[in-house]
Amino acid sequence: MSIKRRVFLFLFLFGKVSLLDNGLARKPPMGWMSWGYFMCGVDCETHPRKCLKQKLILSVADTFYNEGYQEAGFEYIIIDDCWSEKQRDRNGRLVPDKKRFPKGMKYIADYIHSRGLKFGMYTNVAEITCMHYPGSKGHFSTDAKMFADWGVDYIKVDGCFVGEAFLNKAYIKFGQHLNASGRPMVYSCSWPYYIEFIHHKTPDYKTISRHCNMWRNYHDVVTSWQAIKTIITHYKSAYDQLSGHHGPGQWNDMDMLIFGTGSLTDSQSRVHLAVYSMLAAPLLLSCDTSRITKYEKELLLNLELLAIAQDPLGIMGRPFELETSITLWVKSHLPRKGDKYHSVSFALINLEEHASSVTFTPGLYGLNSTDGYTVMDVFTREFIRNVTLNESILVTVPEEDVILYTLFPL
Ligand SMILES: *[C@@H]1O[C@H](CO)[C@@H](O)[C@H](O)[C@H]1NC(C)=O
Ligand SMILES: *[C@@H]1O[C@H](CO)[C@@H](O)[C@H](O)[C@H]1NC(C)=O
Ligand SMILES: *[C@@H]1O[C@H](CO)[C@@H](O)[C@H](O)[C@H]1NC(C)=O
Ligand SMILES: *[C@@H]1O[C@H](CO)[C@@H](O)[C@H](O)[C@H]1NC(C)=O
Repeated sequence: MSIKRRVFLFLFLFGKVSLLDNGLARKPPMGWMSWGYFMCGVDCETHPRKCLKQKLILSVADTFYNEGYQEAGFEYIIIDDCWSEKQRDRNGRLVPDKKRFPKGMKYIADYIHSRGLKFGMYTNVAEITCMHYPGSKGHFSTDAKMFADWGVDYIKVDGCFVGEAFLNKAYIKFGQHLNASGRPMVYSCSWPYYIEFIHHKTPDYKTISRHCNMWRNYHDVVTSWQAIKTIITHYKSAYDQLSGHHGPGQWNDMDMLIFGTGSLTDSQSRVHLAVYSMLAAPLLLSCDTSRITKYEKELLLNLELLAIAQDPLGIMGRPFELETSITLWVKSHLPRKGDKYHSVSFALINLEEHASSVTFTPGLYGLNSTDGYTVMDVFTREFIRNVTLNESILVTVPEEDVILYTLFPL
């Protein structure tokens, strides 16, 4: 058989040859990333509490390790933009800022790894990063190798300052260099965001999902309830476009959680985390972890909620507009009864400033166990009732709040 025919046969038999196969991110990554709260925190003398430096990164590792976050699944600790010196060294390598990261990145990686956690870093495909630090253009191979040498487990790659054609090539190329480095690294791409919102084209999610483990679809989150509402509304309208490209190893990324920034009421924080969990989105905190409230922490460590967020099937929850101002999100997940009947979660989300009541029939949204289901409230962990397929449930959702039920097949 000629090589061509063999290749053809191979393609024919294993259609998705180029699917990113680094074995990582089988569940949506959880952790902490610097950008949302610390941003380009380089002016440490004027703003010591917003300073992006070694001590901060190590303290997040300690918090995850000591305070139960690690057991709940929080794993990656990621340094975003503004970590390097303004110049590469004589050998063309990026140099960590000498004041803020005096011991270098390998030291931080080792510290994080000694805690059983994972380490992430950031670059941009252009000559400079979004905040004008040296970027990776012209240095893909050197940088990929260097990240691998440092022990990086996750790399966020931004897409500022380059054209559409370059983005489409560069993300694939950088991924190949990551692969060639021999160290598996979660590959987080900002690719579709730039295609859609900077270059005003439609992202090719089929290609993107073959090359990246996760990718940003939409604008950066900021620390306000308004921003969270806008993000939720965006994903509701983009469900059809995104859901087919979402699953183990390939995730749509809604951007960071804003817990610990004093931006949300308790009910708003429930909505924030419930929707991200229903969508099986990555869960990355970005805050001074000492400012996470007791209630926020309780939510972040709610294992019933995390079981939905981190379900191995990785199904993106589907939104349904109900007659009132409530959106119903529905997501199938494990455990299954036998191999046929999934558990299903129902999140009734009210973004309005007034309470709403609604009656819904779970059986109309893909349930099929004729033995019925038992209903648990995910936030109170209380048993609500048993339902059959034709029964309805009446709920009142307070303003800016969510009722979240998991139905387990009986
Ligand atoms: C590189 O890609 C190959 C083929 O997809 C895969 O088997 C391997 O695990 C990848 N290696 C790394 C380090 O990502
Ligand atoms: C029930 O629904 C699930 C999910 O849609 C499906 O996988 C399963 O085959 C169905 N079971 C039966 C008995 O129809
Ligand atoms: C719900 O169903 C379970 C399993 O059939 C049963 O043990 C339980 O008593 C039921 N609860 C109520 C309140 O009917
Ligand atoms: C629901 O279905 C059960 C049997 O599956 C039946 O006995 C009951 O009358 C039905 N209830 C309604 C309100 O249709």
